[in-house]
Amino acid sequence: MKSAPTQTREVWKRFIVFEGIDGTGTTTQRNLLSETLKGRSIPFHSTAEPTDSEIGRLIRRVLAGDVRVGPETLAYLYAADRNEHLYGSRGIREHLDSGEFVICDRYIFSSLAYQGCTCGPELPARLNQSFPLPSLLIYFDLPPERAISRISGRGAPDLFERGEFLSEVSRAYEGILERFDAQGMEILRVDGSRSIPEVAEDIRRAVLS
Ligand code: TYD
Repeated sequence: MKSAPTQTREVWKRFIVFEGIDGTGTTTQRNLLSETLKGRSIPFHSTAEPTDSEIGRLIRRVLAGDVRVGPETLAYLYAADRNEHLYGSRGIREHLDSGEFVICDRYIFSSLAYQGCTCGPELPARLNQSFPLPSLLIYFDLPPERAISRISGRGAPDLFERGEFLSEVSRAYEGILERFDAQGMEILRVDGSRSIPEVAEDIRRAVLS
């Protein structure tokens, strides 16, 4: 536990966020953590951004290249999707209020990193400044070249699934993590190149501690 948090945002208890560049294995580990919680009869809700709402689906069409919008508009879309995800009916807040854990694949840190690289840091920082922080951020660390080789077998790449761009995003994440760490946020960095069971065990320990 960090002793002297200095950040002023709300921190939501039992809210756990997975982050990392594309291809780092967050979905696999989110599913494994879900199994662990289920096995212990701990109530939880597993979710992801972009969501499967209308806004999330529009974002996925932009990522697939079917709809064209500017990078700033995409930053607004991610923030709109997030606002509904947090505060909408059956959203994250409701699940937490009913005593569940919420495990979320991607959150504000993705916007700060990815949109920070496409439209500069100011707009995503502003659009995301009032959203609450998770009580634990789990960051998947994997060299971009390994992440790309994992993605390459998955079919047509999305807008952001390019090696050079992901290297830039990876560097952006480093600065963002450093900042939130200095503000007292709880962060677990996992080495995504280790075996799936080893990583799952680290996560299990951090979540259940
Ligand atoms: P991702 O979770 O990787 O989707 P999937 O693995 O199901 O294709 O998210 C899609 C992309 O969206 C990914 O490249 C990261 C990007 N993204 C942002 O750029 N900003 C954000 O705020 C979020 C949530 C995701």
